[in-house]
Order: sequence, then C-alpha cells, then structure tokens
Amino acid sequence: MVNANNPLKSILKANDHISIPGVYDALSAKLAELNGFPAAWVSGFCVSTSFFIPDENYLTIDQYVRRVWEIRKISKIPLIVDCDEGYGGIENSRELTRRLSDVGAEAFCLEDNAYPKINSFKNSANRKAPLENADLFANKIAAVKADNPSSLVIARTESLIAGEDLENAVKRAALYQSAGADLLVIHSKSRVISDFEKIARHWGQPSSLVVIPTLAASVRIEDLAALGFKVIILANQLLRGVISSMYDSYNKFKKNPAIDELGNSVVTMDFIFSLIDKHSDIHENV
Ligand code: SPV
Ligand code: MG
Repeated sequence: MVNANNPLKSILKANDHISIPGVYDALSAKLAELNGFPAAWVSGFCVSTSFFIPDENYLTIDQYVRRVWEIRKISKIPLIVDCDEGYGGIENSRELTRRLSDVGAEAFCLEDNAYPKINSFKNSANRKAPLENADLFANKIAAVKADNPSSLVIARTESLIAGEDLENAVKRAALYQSAGADLLVIHSKSRVISDFEKIARHWGQPSSLVVIPTLAASVRIEDLAALGFKVIILANQLLRGVISSMYDSYNKFKKNPAIDELGNSVVTMDFIFSLIDKHSDIHENV
C-alpha cells in the first residue's frame, strides 16, 4: 500500500512538469529509471502487446497486477498505472486499484470508455466505441479515490476520441475532478500544438492536466510543457522502437550474415552482466 508520503506527489510538487515514458516490464522500467526518468507510465497497450493480445480488455486483473508487481520489485521510480476503464464496473475497478496499490503503484489512470474498451487509436476513422455514462464514471472515480486516499487518481476522458466536442470533454473532466480525480487527461487525436493549446485553454488549469500526445509526432515536449501540462507521457514509443529493432535483427539474421553483422549494433553480454550485477539486489554481494 502506498503510504501518505506518496513520492510521486513530491516529484510533481518539485517540478513544473515531468515527461515520462511508457514501460511494460521490469527491464523497460529499470532502464527508464537508470536513464534518469523520475517516474514511468505502465502502458496497458504495451503490456497487452507484450502478451501479443489486443489492447481490448483481454488481460485479467491477475495478469496485470502480476506484471506491475514484477516491475515494482525491480524499479523504484513511481508508477502511474494505466487501468483502462477499470476492467469492468465499479467493483472491478475497486478490486483492480486496491490490488495495484498493494503491490506499490503510486497512481492510477482510469478512462471513461465503456467496457470492453478498445485502444483509442484503433480503427480511428470509423470507430464507434461508446463512452461510459459520465455520472457512472464519476462514481467510479469517487470510489477508487475513497479506497486509495494516498494514491494519485487520474481520470481520463475519451470524449474527443469518441467524436464529442471540446465543451463536452471539458464538462466530463470537470465532473471527474469534482468526484475526486487529482489529475485529468483530455485524450485526443491531436497532431499539432495548436490543438493542445485549445485543450489547455478551454480547461483553464493546465497544471492539473496529463497529456498523452501519441499521434503528435512533430510536437515538441518543451512546447507542451510551455502550455502548462503537468505530466507528458510518451506512452508507446519505446515499445515501437523495440519492435522495429526486432524486425531489423530478424531480417538481418535471415540473410545468413557473418555473426558480427548481427552483433555490431547490439550491446555486449558484458554490458548486460554488469548492468544487472550493479543494479539488481538479487546478489547482495556482487
Ligand atoms: C496506453 O499506453 O495504453 C495508453 C495510451 O492508453 S494510448 O494508447 O496512446 O492511448
Ligand atoms: Mg491504455
């Protein structure tokens, strides 16, 4: 259980903004920590992809909590855990977040998709994924916050993704804030900084906003920070790079290369031995 001195709260207090990567297992989280990131987003999309299943509520609570436990065991940085829509109704969300809290997650993000959700960017053009009733979702946020008063609860509205206008999105965010959410995501398909600027301006208090600019490939992180967003999450770029690297390696491998053609762009085994010996506490005396 996260104690009242939730370290993520201190980090947010001490920084105008933080920008953090999406991780999905112990290795990716530990490397985020060793590369100096102050916290990490545990990405539902990336964890699902690591199981090779769609980001559509196929993971069980057991599978997901187990993965977060594996991450927590190895990495000490605060974890903002993507909880999708809470894996069902209010009681499912309470069970999920209580168990995540028990394994040491500092923050939960719940989104107002109806169950079962699909990833916000899948079939983007003709997608008809219904939203949850706003009052029901607000009740869910209130219940999760009441169960986990020391945790940070982030409410994410998918209103813009579902095709609603900014007025509606802001209305939903305001309702969730009054239900107890500490931070809000007004998720969007925005690609350009002016769209993020509109969201920040309409909301009016960007220091309570988290942004996940997944489609905004040409937007600069510093420009989002300048708009006042508090937490900037690059949710899946790391995993996409890893998959690209796997494809490159397998393609090279199939061409019957000299071994060093496969090996010349990879880290050495010695690099991995010393990385883990230095940073794992499995062998206390190494
Ligand atoms: C995730 O990382 O699972 C997210 C962020 O929810 S996104 O897929 O970009 O919507
Ligand atoms: Mg997700």
